[in-house]
Amino acid sequence: MCSIIGYVGKSDAAPILVKSLHRMEYRGYDSVGVATHDNDSICMRKGTGRVQEVNDQKGLDALSGVTGLGHTRWATHGAVTDINAHPHMSSSGDVAIVHNGVVENHETLRDRLKEDGYTFASETDSEVIANLLQYHKDRTGDIKESLINTIQDIQGHYAFIAMFDDGAMVSARYGEPLIVGMAENGIFLSSDVLGFIEHTDEAIYLESGMCCIIQNNDVQIMDYAGNVIKHRTTTVSKEFGDTRMGEYANYTLKEIHEQPNAILRAGMNSHKQMEQVSDMIRSAGFAYATGSGTSYNAALIGQKILRRSAGIRLEVILSSEMSAESDMLRSGDVLLAISQSGESADVLDAVRIAKKAGCVIVCMVNSVNSSLAKISDVILLMDCGQEIGVAATKSFMAQCGLLLRLVDTLTDGAGIDHNKISNAISDVISNSDMIRDVAYTLGDTKDVYVLGRGIHHSVALEAALKIKELTYIHAEGLNGGEMKHGPLALIDKSSVVIVMNPHDDTYNDMLLGAREVQARGGTIIGVSDKSSDVYDHWIGIPSGDGVTYSLAEVVVSQLLAYYTALARDINPDYPRNLAKSVTVK
Ligand code: AGP
Repeated sequence: MCSIIGYVGKSDAAPILVKSLHRMEYRGYDSVGVATHDNDSICMRKGTGRVQEVNDQKGLDALSGVTGLGHTRWATHGAVTDINAHPHMSSSGDVAIVHNGVVENHETLRDRLKEDGYTFASETDSEVIANLLQYHKDRTGDIKESLINTIQDIQGHYAFIAMFDDGAMVSARYGEPLIVGMAENGIFLSSDVLGFIEHTDEAIYLESGMCCIIQNNDVQIMDYAGNVIKHRTTTVSKEFGDTRMGEYANYTLKEIHEQPNAILRAGMNSHKQMEQVSDMIRSAGFAYATGSGTSYNAALIGQKILRRSAGIRLEVILSSEMSAESDMLRSGDVLLAISQSGESADVLDAVRIAKKAGCVIVCMVNSVNSSLAKISDVILLMDCGQEIGVAATKSFMAQCGLLLRLVDTLTDGAGIDHNKISNAISDVISNSDMIRDVAYTLGDTKDVYVLGRGIHHSVALEAALKIKELTYIHAEGLNGGEMKHGPLALIDKSSVVIVMNPHDDTYNDMLLGAREVQARGGTIIGVSDKSSDVYDHWIGIPSGDGVTYSLAEVVVSQLLAYYTALARDINPDYPRNLAKSVTVK
């Protein structure tokens, strides 16, 4: 999603802003821009491409001035073009803005402003914010009134930062994240702690419905009526800022390697909360879970583990489907809301619906300061450190780790040994070379099908998602028993079928399915603790209990997807078109 950053301080703003934008690259974007204030005027440079590229071409960091703002855009309204890139200026050039989110009533506002003589250069919804601020400033002559009137005019969900030609900076948050960083060398406004962590760990998390003005090196935080609000400064965990790649070639590989630790850490410090949630679930006998993408797949894994190991029914609802499914929610029901970022718009919406129905919200998140954590009754912390790679890997493992701790608590300690899982993951990682060799045979593949049954079907769904995201190859996760009921029609010589085939009572049926695929010319990759002549390639996993083994399968699929991305010359950290946290609906 878009990232916004603002800086008012003592140092040159542009190089600081460009560095901040670099650190927030993981959030996903297609264009970049910076504007600074110097000598009572605003200068702006922007363009499409990566931060480094645009900076090399246009010299973003060469702009002068100690006040400025920057942006990486993830297009929603209007094509990916230089003109649509942010910042946007008011038609007079006296106000520059950067925006993350959607202005829902932008067409009405645009028409109204045009009638009053304001002009527009871009196709974006965001540009109306610049002209609206200008409109109100032209009429009131006052920055605060201009801000308050503007936020009362706009509808939607957004965070924006604006800079006036006198150097004043204002900002507002409604739905999208916005954090103030208080550093010695200046004040930051940012979508993400990473925007300023290099300069300070002192942060003020603005609530939705708050705005602020930075003037004379001071920040004034207000509600939307303009009343000044007392704010609390939080010290951000330094670890959150530790996003160095170290010895690794990229973040995705680093994060895959962090999983043996992620599974151990998840929930280690949440004993009290786990007891609380277990009591609620035990007395109800069931719970709901919701999430999107990989977090949804983690919920599906949780569904199988909770039922099998603790006899608890977990009903899983895709977050984007919550409004269609909400008729079954009852007051007092427990909803586990699973989200790495805690900022996904679909998840936040699902939770709002469930809260309305009277559900108790238990979130599984990676940040206590996320929007989801703020609206939940109980927080279970994933505690896996910042995940930079857009494709979720260690956060998935941490989510599974939390679900396993829940099973431990529900069964009074009779759950699965986390050390065993951690070791199984390490074993898979130490087998990376062999997985890489298989992946390099997939370079030109067009279609991949991943088959699994029971919990391995949930693994297959997650594996297919990783393959899509990281390799851009069409991939589908399918139930092993369903192939002959339709999907077999798709198989030809160009198809690759990955068979998640544990040596259990489904083994022979899965092999039969694999033979049917092979008879139609498909290539079979067997991921299994037992080899077979059916497999064109065999990736061996040590035998283990169902859960340990399944999580080892997940890591195999992550590494397969990762090395296939490398074979196809794709940067695994930043897949095209995707954003790390999807804060729009
Ligand atoms: C996972 O690899 C994806 N990037 C994506 O599906 C992600 O899991 C989804 O957008 C949900 O994100 P969240 O966990 O931050 O809510």
